[in-house]
Amino acid sequence: MKRVVVVPSILSANFCRLGKEIQEVLKAGCNLIHFDVMDNHYVSNLTMGPMILKSIKNSGIKVFFDVHLMASPVDSLIPLFANLNVQFITIHPESTNHLDRTIQLIKKIDCGVGLALNPSTSLHFLDYVIDELDLILVMAVNPGFGGQKFLTYVLKKIQQVRSLIDKSQKNILLSVDGGISLSNIVNVIQSGADYVVVGSAIFHSDDYLKTIRKLTDIIIDN
Ligand code: DX5
Ligand code: ZN
Repeated sequence: MKRVVVVPSILSANFCRLGKEIQEVLKAGCNLIHFDVMDNHYVSNLTMGPMILKSIKNSGIKVFFDVHLMASPVDSLIPLFANLNVQFITIHPESTNHLDRTIQLIKKIDCGVGLALNPSTSLHFLDYVIDELDLILVMAVNPGFGGQKFLTYVLKKIQQVRSLIDKSQKNILLSVDGGISLSNIVNVIQSGADYVVVGSAIFHSDDYLKTIRKLTDIIIDN
């Protein structure tokens, strides 16, 4: 049986106590944290950047990050994430003029390469670069904000990406981001996700640990 993993997105955490919020979800057994970087240009919101990751690392919190860059231009940001416990850097194909060059910049700092596909983004962006990827992130909302409604038509896209990955016979992870909750996680995993990014459903709940356990139980039962 395939093990699907819950990856908390700290976009919906309480930034006043960010270190504590991260430690809470680590207690629930999560070992990867999703980190949304928004620039008020590629998306209309402004969030966090490498300085915050540096503070987290310097505070002694030991965890790996899954950095989701929603920024354009994006190339100049990438080197700033070197040596900050970043496992993956995921970019959007529309945020760069030269996708292959951007991918090579991520490899150069020894991070896994992720490509994010917005709900309306064509799968053709994968045609020539799929072999270069470690992760494909399917967005189930339009990027920019936490707490949005899951777009159900994306389930078909998750299935399509699953079969492209299987066909490629490469070790590429399929992650799904946006609007995932206790009520729809079953559909997401049954469509073929390897991991699910969950923001508001965890950080807006009364008990993070309980919510992560409930999500994990659903995964185990399915
Ligand atoms: C949206 C971000 C997501 C967001 C998910 O643009 O990429 O990672 O934090 O949050 P929820 O789970 O609340 O949709
Ligand atoms: Zn994200």
